[in-house]
Amino acid sequence: MTTSSPRTVLITGATSGIGQAAAASLAESGWRVLIAARNPRRAQATLSQIRRETRSELVESVSMDLASFDSVREGAAAVLEQAPSLDVLINNAGLTNSERQLTVDGHEMMMQTNHFSHALLTSLLLPRLLESDDARVVNVSSRTYEQAGDFPIDDLRFERRWGAFWPYTVTKLANILFTNELHRRTHEHGLAAFSVHPGVVNTNFQQNMPIGLRVALKIARPLLKTPKRGAEPVVELAASAARRSDAGAYFDLHKRVVPQAHATDRAVAERLWEATNEITGAEWPSS
Ligand SMILES: NC(=O)c1ccc[n+]([C@@H]2O[C@H](COP(=O)([O-])OP(=O)(O)OC[C@H]3O[C@@H](n4cnc5c(N)ncnc54)[C@H](OP(=O)(O)O)[C@@H]3O)[C@@H](O)[C@H]2O)c1
Repeated sequence: MTTSSPRTVLITGATSGIGQAAAASLAESGWRVLIAARNPRRAQATLSQIRRETRSELVESVSMDLASFDSVREGAAAVLEQAPSLDVLINNAGLTNSERQLTVDGHEMMMQTNHFSHALLTSLLLPRLLESDDARVVNVSSRTYEQAGDFPIDDLRFERRWGAFWPYTVTKLANILFTNELHRRTHEHGLAAFSVHPGVVNTNFQQNMPIGLRVALKIARPLLKTPKRGAEPVVELAASAARRSDAGAYFDLHKRVVPQAHATDRAVAERLWEATNEITGAEWPSS
């Protein structure tokens, strides 16, 4: 009898919240799980917790700070070294800031962390992913993309317009536009790309939100989903055989939905793709 090797997933933002719960769930199902983490202490604590809870030894970490393109490149190189095969990438890490902050690369913090770096990471890992017979990328977006309005394609650093929560919603719109374009360019090569809203989940995420939203979420806390519940739609898109045929789609929780018009605009998605490649230096296999 032959034993097949476990499927391998890389998850960003798995030191907390939805990403950590998704990592634990996939580890429990026998997957080899790599977590990309910026903070070694939190990475170690997460590994210990997941190993203890799931009794899996197939959980490792890779150092990666999504607020630095150099760090993303180094982290991706480490993944390629550590993981001879890679089946799924879950681009989950995210943050919200009410103050405008710049990264070491001179980009707005949320835009770089939530979108640019994930696009760069995807490009760097794509050749390895495409060696899998069931390659997937799951981009964790948010229903708040609905509040973004038209994508500010000429103001990717938010120099002309800023608003306490609005820039975050734009980054989540970017996650959907990126997924659409990724799907168009890579589906024929064998990649299934998805974007997903995981629900409103009780995580560390709320800590840098504008005060009004923080208070509202604190009041609503008993109604929020647990990270485990929040991870379920993400894990489903990563692992369910039935979902592969939905490649390219946006999911609101477990339901495939057509996003609003500003998230399906092909011309904007193409311009964002080009701008992202220029900013990050991402290169893709020619289609
Ligand atoms: N919670 C919700 O209600 C909700 C709703 C819709 C969508 N989402 C989306 O779900 C995703 C996960 O959020 P969450 O709610 O689980 O939040 P969370 O508990 O705050 O987790 C965020 C994760 O991202 C990581 N991260 C942040 N900045 C990073 C950077 N520069 N480099 C590397 N990792 C970084 C954090 O690492 P550290 O541990 O080092 O901080 C943490 O592991 C996000 O994309 C968010 O937009 C959340």
